[in-house]
Parts: sequence; C-alpha cells; structure tokens
Amino acid sequence: MVPLLAASPALAAQAIPDVTGLCVAAPIVTGMPTSIQVAQRPSAGGSRVGGPASDLFCAELLPTAAGEEARGVVELGRVPSPFGVAVTVEGHQRYDLTAWIAGLPDPATLGAAVHVAWATTPFFDPIIKLGAVTNGRTALGEIALDKFLILVSAETSSAVTERSGPLVLRGRSPSTLMEGHDMMAQAPAAMTAEHVHDLGGWRMPPMYPGLTMLPGMMSLVPRTPPLALELPPAVGTPRLAKPGQVVRLGHGGTLDLEAGFVTRQIGGRTLTMLAFNGQYPGPLISVEQGSTIFVNFTNRTPFPTAVHWHGVRLDNRFDGVPHVTQDPVPPGGTFRYQVFFKDAGIYWYHPHHREDAQQELGLYGNLLVSSRSPAYWSPAHREEVLILDDILLDTEGVLPFGDERATHALMGRFGNVFLINGEPDYSLSVQRGELVRFYLTNAANTRTFNASFQREGTEGPALRMKLVASDVGKFEREAWVESVVLSPAERYVVEVLFPESGVYQLVNRVRAIDHRTGTFFPEVSRMGRIVVGHEPAAPDRGSAFRTLRENRDVIADIDRYRAHFDRAPDHELILAIAVDSLPPATEQVMLWDWLYFNPVEWAGTMPDMNWASTGREVRWILRDPRTGRENGAIDWSFAVGDVIKLRVSNDRDGFHAMQHPLHIHGQRFLVLSQNGVLNDNLVWKDTVLLPTGTTTDLLLELSNPGRWMVHCHIAEHLETGMKFVFNVGEAGR
Ligand code: C2O
Ligand code: CU
Repeated sequence: MVPLLAASPALAAQAIPDVTGLCVAAPIVTGMPTSIQVAQRPSAGGSRVGGPASDLFCAELLPTAAGEEARGVVELGRVPSPFGVAVTVEGHQRYDLTAWIAGLPDPATLGAAVHVAWATTPFFDPIIKLGAVTNGRTALGEIALDKFLILVSAETSSAVTERSGPLVLRGRSPSTLMEGHDMMAQAPAAMTAEHVHDLGGWRMPPMYPGLTMLPGMMSLVPRTPPLALELPPAVGTPRLAKPGQVVRLGHGGTLDLEAGFVTRQIGGRTLTMLAFNGQYPGPLISVEQGSTIFVNFTNRTPFPTAVHWHGVRLDNRFDGVPHVTQDPVPPGGTFRYQVFFKDAGIYWYHPHHREDAQQELGLYGNLLVSSRSPAYWSPAHREEVLILDDILLDTEGVLPFGDERATHALMGRFGNVFLINGEPDYSLSVQRGELVRFYLTNAANTRTFNASFQREGTEGPALRMKLVASDVGKFEREAWVESVVLSPAERYVVEVLFPESGVYQLVNRVRAIDHRTGTFFPEVSRMGRIVVGHEPAAPDRGSAFRTLRENRDVIADIDRYRAHFDRAPDHELILAIAVDSLPPATEQVMLWDWLYFNPVEWAGTMPDMNWASTGREVRWILRDPRTGRENGAIDWSFAVGDVIKLRVSNDRDGFHAMQHPLHIHGQRFLVLSQNGVLNDNLVWKDTVLLPTGTTTDLLLELSNPGRWMVHCHIAEHLETGMKFVFNVGEAGR
C-alpha cells in the first residue's frame, strides 16, 4: 500500500538561513495520515519532542515561476495576551506573523522595485497588505483569519495599496489543510441499520443545529450503561431549587452544606438535578482573607462524593480529593471541612468525584475572599459574581450520564443550553454609568468561553472591559480587553462601565468547525442581558474606570521570583492521548480531522461520536518525558519553599489533540511564556489553558505541604485518568 502521507518531505526552513523560533524545522504535511501511520509514528506531526507543533504554527512559502529560487516560511506566533489563547471578540485566532525568506529575485528583473507581502482568505476577500519584505527576517504584524493565504508579489512601490505585480511566493495557513471530506459519505454506514433500534437505555444526543451527522454515527452507543437518576418512589419530587444566597462567614464561622436532589425548571423543562443547600448555584460564601471557616458537609445524594475548594491554599487534609486527601463521603455520610483563606479573590467549590455528572447537575458554588487592604480593588458601584456553564439537554431532560464511566471522553461534554448562575435567562439591571466588577468563573465540563458585552441589536464594537484579576489575585497591571477567554475552572475579574441606557447582551462568540465541510463558522450564544436604566449612577466613577492601575503589591510579590524566570525547566510534562478499540467510524472521522487542530476546540460539533467515547477507549495522558511515567505513576516530590519551572507541551501528534486546562491543587503558579513568547503581565494562577500544540512554561511555587493533585479540568479527561499526585514535604526535610 502506498502511504498517503510522505514522511515529512523537504524541510523548507532548513534551506533558509537564520530561521529562529517555531519554524526552524517546519515540516510540510502534504497528505492524509492513515491509522497505521498515526499508530506507528509517535511523533508524526513534526513537533520537536517537548516543543511547539511547528506544523500548526508555520506556513511554508513556495515560489511561483517568477519567484524562481525563492523560499520562505512564515511563523504564526503568539500575540501577547492575558489569556491562554489570543482571539478577537468574534473568536478569530490572532497570530503575530514573522517571515523568513531567501532567494528573492531582484525586483528590477520583474519590472518592480520592491517585494510586498499580503494575507487573504481562500476567496481572496479581503486582501490585507502586510508590508514590504526582503530576504531574511521580516515582522509582518498581526492577522486574525480562519483560513488564509500569504502572498508575496513584486510591486513598483512599497506604498501600493493593491496587489498588481507578479506573484513570487505563496503559502497557506495550517488551517487550510482542513478540507471537506466527500469521502466521508462512503465511510462505514453499513452497520447503522441493525443497531439503531437498540440504544441500551441511552438516548442519542441532540445534533448540533444546522450540521448533519457524520457517517456511521447512528450505530454508536457508549460502552457503559446509563446512570440511573431516578429517586426511590418514597422520596417524592424533590423541592424546587432556589437562586443562590450569599452567606457571610466571619473567622471561625460554620456553614452547614448539604448536597441533594432538587427540581429545576430550565427552558420549559422540569429537570431532576443536584444542588448544594437546594440552591443554584450553591451558596456564595463570602469571607475575609486570613480567616478560617468550618463547613459541615452532608451527602444526601445516592453517589459517593466530596467537596473540593478550588484554588484555595488550605490545609491538605481538607482539599476534598477522594482517595488522596480523604475517603469519599458515602451517601448519607458527613465530613467536616476546615477552610483557610490565604489569598484574596474569587474561588469555587465543586465535587471531585465523578464531577462529569455531579458538577454538571449543579453542584458548584463560589467563594469570594475580600482583602484586608481597603484599596485592594478600585472603586465600583457593585460587584456581581457570575458562574458560566452549559448543560446538555434533550426533549426528555438532562442527557443521561455513564454509570460505570463517563461518556464524552474524547472532547468532554459540551452543553447545548448556556447558563449563568444556573439560569438560562440571566438578567441584571443597572443604572446608566454604573461601574460593575464581575467575578467570572467557568464551571463547564469542557467548554472554553470567549465572553463579551455587546449592545443589543447593533453590530457595534463590544464594551471595553478592564481586566483586573484572575485565579489567585490581581494582575501586575490592569488592561483593556474586548472579550474574556475562560477555560474550565479559570476565573477572571473584569470591571465594566455601562455608558448608555439600553440593553447589553453577555455573549459567547467563537469560531466553530464543521468537520464535514472543513469550514469555520460563527457560534454566537446569548448568555444573559444587562438592562441599563436612564437614571445616572452616583457617584460618577468614570475617572476611576478610565484609569489603569499598576498593582505594586503584586509586582513586589512577584519580584521575589524573577530570578527563577530564565532557568532551565526542572520538570516537563507532555499532554497526550492513547486510544484503543474505538468504533471504526469514529476512527475514520478522527483521522480525517488529524491534519489540523484548532488551538481550542470551542464548540461541540461532533456530538454523537464524542458522546459514545468512554475511558474504555480513550485515555488522556500526562507524561513525564524524563522518566516516561504517565498519570498516576508520576511521583514528583518537593519541599515547602521550592520554586520550580515546569514546561508543559500539548502534543498534537496523537490520534486527537485539543486544549487542556491544567489545574494544580494547593499551590499557585505564574504562566511565564507560551511558544517562547514571554508573558509581560503576570498574575498568580491555579489553572492554565494549554492550547493544542503549544509549549507553556510555568513557575510553580511550592508553599503548602501535602499531597496535591495535578489534572486536566475537563471533567471527562480527568475521569479517563489525566491526573497525578505530587508530594510537598515540610521545609528542610
Ligand atoms: Cu476544580 Cu481538582 O479541581
Ligand atoms: Cu484535558
């Protein structure tokens, strides 16, 4: 059999002197892999081991006849961003382009004076001038297009605004490798008929609106029975859940927290769900930095569970991780947590046991920790705490979960109804000129949001937001952003001033992919609305809002760690996947998909195939490349006071690749760089979004003794085993 994919052919970049950065050895992928090749080629896609995936971040430039011997490569570099990925408010990926070119013909021989680079879409609309280029390195600036071509032409002047001279070089973005697959129509469909009637108690997930099902998917069912959510008849209908209440607790205060069934009404459907204290979301626990509270937890669900205090640097015994820091709390059981708040900011609590089901059903709440320093935040008229989430519903209710293991192991369970604070129709009324500080938390199983405020009924620009803080406190410097990218478990704090009366929408705007046609399309979801009244808010906070603060307290704190920034990594991790006995139809579809992976999988456009995958077929992996150990076999050990540099590479070469939000328990870390681009505005984090094919450097401070978990916060990836525990001993031991 002739392989469809020739082993990485000519390495263009090798022929071009002086290429540095991501594209030193950029391979050109010219065909489709076969399953055999993917299986046999552990490093097929051209990533240097432990480095960024050059085939996703480099575009080769090839000569036309006029270009003769010219060669080139364009790097798709990271645009500095406070978020794990840099996207526009519409969700377009932003890239900072750099060209390395050699062998350009003398423009005079082409009747021209200069070479000019252009970017355009495959439909040549628009055509964007990038600027003059020469042999060697040229910075071309930023672009944000789904699929694009890079053209270099010989022109009479660098001032031309339209391309008219002869083309000398052309290249295409890695995303253009994603094409329509007519052959998919011929993929295994034969087995559909006999299986379609026996779903073993399952219901097929709803299809993504407007897309057709991929071939062969009708026959798929997860390899686990569905989880029974029925209550014993004696219990009756559980009480209707109420909106979440604020609970203020002083030092030494106690909260009784009970997890149990509730009835919810969402989108006209009556649903049996779970809640803490019968509230959606669970109570907002408001405390002061430096205080300790007690939480008497009672499990009134039929499932073992525990409560994890996400991002809180508390005593290890109370971290709430079953089989690591405590035994699971059995149905009817109790556990008393003692929670200490070392840091100000926004945190959250959720179960750490089958959270793919328990968290999705409503078990989550926020912790708002106020600082002891009065000027910690700049003045605002009000504070709103918003949990962003989605839930997967069909006409009968919540789509069932797996009993023995989680479904949706490939991409995680995307919902089809958006929720803010558990509500499908979140609404807030404010006054004109009101300055609101929003504390945003992503509690979705897998969805990454790109959230912005947009005036209803206009195509106008999004409201600008002042980004002030993230997971574990404030940024070094406040910054303007148009949208906020939050991967699961991340938090961001933004301040927004609503300048005019009217209605604003809180929207999620991303670029989704139709895998059948190989095209991007906009997914725009309204998550809530803000109604702005006519009365002006008092006092006027305009000048506070317009001022971007530099947080000297944060900078001084981080100064103590800067000496570590340049050191070599102490540890490395590779994020990878192993699959086994997936249905042939799934394997086929995934292989078509393999040539290009978006930095973030923003939308659940393959609902059936994704649904039918479980931990039996899919294992997501954290691998220590220095020892070869994976997941639970990794046994790192540190001492309190250690500061380590951790290099994490999200491998694009496996069967499937996607982003992972990596969470480290009990400590805090800085995100130093991604794909070699330094982060110039730092903030302490506990969860970081690692886009497909990227390499990210973290500086981890080990401040808290105990056994702490590291894992992907996509609930279904965690369920397939994407986790390990490291040990932090007392200082000096
Ligand atoms: Cu938010 Cu290990 O958890
Ligand atoms: Cu993951």
